[in-house]
Amino acid sequence: MKDLIEAAKAARARAHAPYSKFYVGAAVRDEQGRVFGGCNIENAAYPQGWCAEPSAISHLIMAGGRRVTEVAVMGNGDALCTPCGGCRQKLREFAAGDVKIHCCTETGVLIRTFTLDELLPASFGPENLS
Ligand code: THU
Repeated sequence: MKDLIEAAKAARARAHAPYSKFYVGAAVRDEQGRVFGGCNIENAAYPQGWCAEPSAISHLIMAGGRRVTEVAVMGNGDALCTPCGGCRQKLREFAAGDVKIHCCTETGVLIRTFTLDELLPASFGPENLS
C-alpha cells in the first residue's frame, strides 16, 4: 500500500487547481501490480476541469492495464477526502466491489479504507449491459 500512497502524494504535487486550491492526488494499481498516479486538472472554464481519479485511470488504461485492484486518494490537510460520486462510478468500470480505496491525509497518513461497494452500493456497471 505504501507505493500506492507515495504515488498519490507525488501526483498531488502536480495538481493544477488554481481555482479551488483543493489539490487532489490519486493512484490506482492494475492487475499486474503496476501503480499509476493522477491529479486534478482544473480549467478557467470551470466545468471543463476533472478529478484526480480519472487522470490516474487514464494512465492505467494507456499503459495497457485492464483492471483497478487498489486505490489511494488524498486531498488537502487531514480531512477525509473520498472519491466524488462521478469518480466512484468511473472506478466501478474497472474495479470489483471489494477493491480497497485508501483515503489519506495530504502527507500520506492513512485515515480510513473503504471498499468500492461501501462507497457505491447497489451500483450499475458493465454487467448490466451484457
Ligand atoms: N476532486 C478530485 O480530484 N477528486 C474527487 O474525488 C473530489 C474532487 C477535485 C475536483 C476539483 O478540482 C477539486 O477537487 C474541488 O472539487
